Amino acid sequence: MNITIVGAGNIGGALAQGWAKKGHRIFFGVRNPAMFKANRLLTEYPTITAHSVSEAAQAGDLIVVSVPAKAVVEVATQLGPVTGKYIIDATNGSIGTPDYPNAVQALKVLTGCTDVVKCFNTTGFENLIDPVYQGESTAMFMAGSSKEAKETVLLLARELGFADCYDLGDDTKIDLVEQLAFVWITLAFSGGLGRHFALKVVTR
Ligand SMILES: NC(=O)c1ccc[n+]([C@@H]2O[C@H](COP(=O)([O-])OP(=O)(O)OC[C@H]3O[C@@H](n4cnc5c(N)ncnc54)[C@H](OP(=O)(O)O)[C@@H]3O)[C@@H](O)[C@H]2O)c1
Repeated sequence: MNITIVGAGNIGGALAQGWAKKGHRIFFGVRNPAMFKANRLLTEYPTITAHSVSEAAQAGDLIVVSVPAKAVVEVATQLGPVTGKYIIDATNGSIGTPDYPNAVQALKVLTGCTDVVKCFNTTGFENLIDPVYQGESTAMFMAGSSKEAKETVLLLARELGFADCYDLGDDTKIDLVEQLAFVWITLAFSGGLGRHFALKVVTR
């Protein structure tokens, strides 16, 4: 698959290397592609390249948005035509405007894309690089109203090594997925667990 990742920081970098290892082509959308050429990921993985946000967005079948939440509106206006593409929102926090209830709705309204899923935001970036603890994989979560997009996101989560990517529901559950991120953050920092733990679902 051709995957666009807008935001090449901790989350974008973790997703890029996981999917590059599985044979996907990664198109980073960055603010300064020329400066980004020296980035370690580009030298280590020939299938990861850096472009302007709009160029990268056109190259991907699927676009991951992994920027600070306050940059989502700006990024959404730069993506260009997104017909036939899926968008994954991996951000957390306030988007900085009351015009939209959350980042997923901002992406939907501003791009016209109906296939937007929230995912890969509920755990620390280290767990996107390696979600396996003592031989056992851990859980990812997602929500959104596009069943087709969620089928693809599930496959991509499994490729990163997640045992499952639990579907919490349609667009009305987007904020619930974001709350799960704050559960992880609370346990990591106020709860004293640090960054090296992950959530897992067990069944009887
Ligand atoms: N870190 C985590 O463990 C974690 C976990 C779950 C979710 N998240 C969420 O994931 C998102 C990214 O977090 P992160 O830790 O990866 O942040 P980060 O390391 O600071 O990376 C953010 C990236 O976004 C880029 N960016 C910022 N504004 C932009 C804009 N207007 N247009 C294009 N690119 C822009 C930055 O580019 P420049 O280099 O040009 O500034 C940088 O590459 C945040 O919403 C965060 O809440 C993070």
